[in-house]
Amino acid sequence: MIVAGNWKMFDGPDARALRAALGDLPHVVAPPYTRLRECVDAGLTTYAQNVHWESEGAFTGEISPPMLQALGVTGAIVGHSERRQFFGETDEGVAKRTRAALAAGLNVIACVGETEAQREAGETEEVLRRQVGVLEAHPNLVIAYEPVWAIGTGKTATPEIAQDAHAFIKSLLDLPVLYGGSVKPDNAAVLLSQPAVDGALVGGASLDIDSFVAICRAGS
Ligand code: PGA
Repeated sequence: MIVAGNWKMFDGPDARALRAALGDLPHVVAPPYTRLRECVDAGLTTYAQNVHWESEGAFTGEISPPMLQALGVTGAIVGHSERRQFFGETDEGVAKRTRAALAAGLNVIACVGETEAQREAGETEEVLRRQVGVLEAHPNLVIAYEPVWAIGTGKTATPEIAQDAHAFIKSLLDLPVLYGGSVKPDNAAVLLSQPAVDGALVGGASLDIDSFVAICRAGS
């Protein structure tokens, strides 16, 4: 069971206070790049929110796997829907980032999920098949199912919707699948109790120490 906190472009909580509050609870935090070192130094399991496929080069604004590893970062989120929606990331780019990060020895959380319009048009499985189809199984790869309509909206997928989507994803690629989309302390336990839900990717609720710790506890 993995509970990962995606701080997005928010400064996030104090790293040492968070580390102390987590105790022995398994966790991952993905802060903005500017706070990676502080999180690593505090002893948090720290992932980046993205990673490039080359180790160096003329790629303004990008960060490479060895640069992250030099900081003590042990993984990266790849293909978040906000990257796809606002920064033009494609399935092919997500596949390249994932492959390179895994080859470098990073853990990867690769995000997939349909928009509201795609779900309403009955295209959920087609979208998931396309997004998951570019990835290959790897021991350090997990998928995060994040229905775009549930991200930051307070609308959570029902446990049944999550279970069905996760089971479908697992039928395509036999990997752990985290659920993401408005996971909060009061809905975490029921979502995480679904047999095909192997953890959570938490946005907003990971910015508050008490709520993130509560979700990690629900997952442990
Ligand atoms: P949310 O974000 O928990 O704020 O909905 C989830 C995510 O985007 O990873």
